[in-house]
Amino acid sequence: MTDNRVAADYQAMDLSKARLFDKQVQENFMPAIVATARQIMDDYAITDGICVDVGCGTARFAIELCRHSNLKIYGLEAVRAIYEVAKMNVEQEGLANRVTPMLGDAQAIPFENEFADLIISRGSYHCWENRVLVFKEIHRVLKKGGIGFVGGGFGRYVSETELERMRSLRDRSLKDGAKAYQEPDELRKIVQEAGVSNFRIIDDRSGLWAELKK
Ligand SMILES: C[S@@+](CC[C@H](N)C(=O)[O-])C[C@H]1O[C@@H](n2cnc3c(N)ncnc32)[C@H](O)[C@@H]1O
Repeated sequence: MTDNRVAADYQAMDLSKARLFDKQVQENFMPAIVATARQIMDDYAITDGICVDVGCGTARFAIELCRHSNLKIYGLEAVRAIYEVAKMNVEQEGLANRVTPMLGDAQAIPFENEFADLIISRGSYHCWENRVLVFKEIHRVLKKGGIGFVGGGFGRYVSETELERMRSLRDRSLKDGAKAYQEPDELRKIVQEAGVSNFRIIDDRSGLWAELKK
């Protein structure tokens, strides 16, 4: 089940709230973004070609990935105000030729079959209304030989102090009864239902992720 309260919080954002969201990401969660980008590069070494970031937020993750690769990155974001901030961030960083934010829904990824070498999605899947459909879309858009890395967490390279600090900030921001993440078995079931056969669930210090291979 989707935690619709989380999704509604994003949908309700205007430009000033989206800017505040970006400020909070920068102040509180950059170690997770830096660590996860490094982890993806170490594990998959996909440094060239096309990457799609599903639920890219304000593009901080895409911007960080540019620092480690030559990837051309398309960031898909459903909320207009967040997408506007993503565009501003990319321009401010001088990366408009490398990162293209796009307004759109993960449930209908606006790319042809086998378009991307790497598809990443961090901290977005708990918002998706129809997660099976999104995993089907991700699998469709992946090239043969491509990798999908979808889930949530802080990356294995964060220090214990950073991990504890970010966990506690995240948990405080959750509303009563909301869960930070899926259970591994739920995630496994969703990916299987999407018809993806070559995948594994990673549930460790780095977070909870589905690694898809095609
Ligand atoms: C916690 S933020 C994570 C942002 C970014 N991936 C990061 O690591 O900083 C989740 C983002 O997913 C976006 N999102 C949620 N549902 C979406 C959907 N169906 N399609 C595209 N984006 C979506 C939200 O609007 C939000 O910007």
